[in-house]
Amino acid sequence: MSSVRQQIGLDVGALKARDTEDVIVGKEIIRHRLSSRVIHWLVADFFFLCAATGLPVFSPVFGWLGNLFGGLAVCRVIHPFAGLAFFASAAAMFLHWKREMQMTAQERGWVGPKLLEYLRDKANHDQIGKYNGGQKVFFYTAALAALGFLVSGVVLWFPLTFAGFLRQLAILVHNVTFIAFFVSIVFHIYLGTTAEPGTFNAMTRGTVSKAWARIHHPKWYRELMGTDK
Ligand code: HEM
Repeated sequence: MSSVRQQIGLDVGALKARDTEDVIVGKEIIRHRLSSRVIHWLVADFFFLCAATGLPVFSPVFGWLGNLFGGLAVCRVIHPFAGLAFFASAAAMFLHWKREMQMTAQERGWVGPKLLEYLRDKANHDQIGKYNGGQKVFFYTAALAALGFLVSGVVLWFPLTFAGFLRQLAILVHNVTFIAFFVSIVFHIYLGTTAEPGTFNAMTRGTVSKAWARIHHPKWYRELMGTDK
């Protein structure tokens, strides 16, 4: 059967990953169905569009970025609409994943002063399900950041409607949110690509290898395989 699939070039894993996830197909596990991946890449694309059109407005140092879009005046027009699109896609991502991202009592240790303890905790590694505590924290950070950008962005979009101190506060919130969130994004991209080989595939093809699942998400792996180990 598998040779027939090879002959006609039928990629069963990728085909099944269109509308299913958390299932085993041959040597692979489907981790993210197509809708999850489309939403994720919309969020990512709109985020980078916002960054590329917002940075030239923030400082002339990034003027070269603005030139890619036709100059500063064009960036000022594109940026708020890209921001609305980023917020809408981030809201869709929040609704799409919120059930799976609920934190267990144990995972709440990832937030706060015990974070380092949790990062070093090898004993509980065995209990990591589909997403680990760090991924869940990042998920909520993205949702909060999207809200922070929206609220402060609306104030900056219609400056004459709001009092001076609100405009100053909005500039602070917009810039601090960007700097803090950008640092998280750098870590996120590093973890999703070179740091953990095989992870990027989860967001492109939708699949991971069984070995990947067993190493990084042992509880999820056991649940899918129906085994104790
Ligand atoms: C080039 C940029 C990016 C790359 C390469 C990337 C890669 C990935 C990968 C591979 C995963 C799946 C991880 C897994 O299944 O375990 C993922 C998940 C996720 N991504 Fe991205 N991503 C990028 C940009 C973004 C941006 C800009 C955001 C939000 C603004 C974002 C939000 C998320 C969230 C919330 C998840 C689920 C939680 C997690 O796995 O951390 N991503 N990303």
